[in-house]
Amino acid sequence: MAQDQDDALRKCPTRIEGLDQILHGGLPAGRTSLIIGGPGAGKTLFGLEFLYRSALAGEPGIFISFEERAAALRVNALTLEWQLAEQEQHGTLFLFEARMEPKAVITGEFGIQPFLAILDHKLKAMGAKRVVIDALDVLMRLISDETRAQNELLALHRWLAERDITALLTVKAPRDADHARHYDFMDYMADCVIHVDNRVLGQLSTRRLRVVKYRGSGFGTNEYPFVIGRPGITLLPISETNLSHRPLGERFSTGVAGLDGLIGGGFRRASSILVSGSSGTGKTTLCSAFSLAACGRGEKVLYISFEESEAALLSAMQSPGIDLRPPIAAGSLRFLTALPEATGAEQHLVKAFALIKEMQPTSVVMESASACHRFERRRPPSSTSCA
Ligand SMILES: Nc1ncnc2c1ncn2[C@@H]1O[C@H](COP(=O)(O)OP(=O)(O)OP(=O)(O)O)[C@@H](O)[C@H]1O
Ligand SMILES: [Mg+2]
Repeated sequence: MAQDQDDALRKCPTRIEGLDQILHGGLPAGRTSLIIGGPGAGKTLFGLEFLYRSALAGEPGIFISFEERAAALRVNALTLEWQLAEQEQHGTLFLFEARMEPKAVITGEFGIQPFLAILDHKLKAMGAKRVVIDALDVLMRLISDETRAQNELLALHRWLAERDITALLTVKAPRDADHARHYDFMDYMADCVIHVDNRVLGQLSTRRLRVVKYRGSGFGTNEYPFVIGRPGITLLPISETNLSHRPLGERFSTGVAGLDGLIGGGFRRASSILVSGSSGTGKTTLCSAFSLAACGRGEKVLYISFEESEAALLSAMQSPGIDLRPPIAAGSLRFLTALPEATGAEQHLVKAFALIKEMQPTSVVMESASACHRFERRRPPSSTSCA
């Protein structure tokens, strides 16, 4: 379905990098969504980042945790640079530890109602319209009577819908048929269901997200890789990207006078240039000359190297007389060096995107494209570098 057809349904942006693009604008506003995944898949962090980013935008929200202590959440969030305590002080975020009374756990006489009473009070006081209920499965597991468990869920669902609350429930993926029954019911209740997982591919851990359903809306239907790291979760909806390249611009010098003459005056702006050649044919020298010339014109260059360390490359370029130290000192040239095998392809991509966003370079050099086959077990392309 085209994105503009989704307009009838109100959307609540998550403000999580890349997720709103996949959800065609965000979660269904005033409705319940579900996020399901195994241990450590990132469910809690998705919920927390949704509320944290909303709080930063002045939209208050309440995070109810059936599993983790509020103090632990605050500390964990700090590793992602999320200052939860600050938002709590501003009254835009409330972390609610929903701890069960031991007596009620033993007798099985507990339910969602006492939490809803507290929640109601807090929602009104804060004027909040967003709620995350984290690890709802913990509560469901403690209710042995299946019908009662479903009634509790139904009561919760109705309660949230009556108040026009945008709710995100997180649950652990069911391990057996018994738990799967609760899951099936939650799945039916939710208007939007998202699966997350953390799998190992070629010895590298890779996180994936898939939207399973979204009532009344189109959505990106693929599995999307995502990365957890500062400053939060980043999804890479590459298959959602349109062909929206800018047209080629004016010519500019390659940094090699003879080459400029050969190709009609230089490279074109907004173009991708592939330099191909076997070992020792001068690919790095060409990329370095290109970078030096660009920085000499007052432009910025990001040099991504999967082949050599920054120090080794700088030293090697002394021989053909290319001194890259001054533009580095001036901040116009920056290196991003990494061993291809160190992380998965998406993590490399996220790092590069983050640096591009921060530094806003005019040109990006990547050396070499052929090293990319070492990210995962793919067939190697021919030896190339591209600028
Ligand atoms: N600062 C960080 N940098 C990188 N990764 C992080 C960081 N903080 C947390 N993570 C990753 O996030 C994972 C935890 O995510 P989260 O707590 O959201 O998972 P979960 O799906 O809620 O797990 P559970 O089912 O156990 O509650 C950790 O295992 C870790 O891999
Ligand atoms: Mg969790």
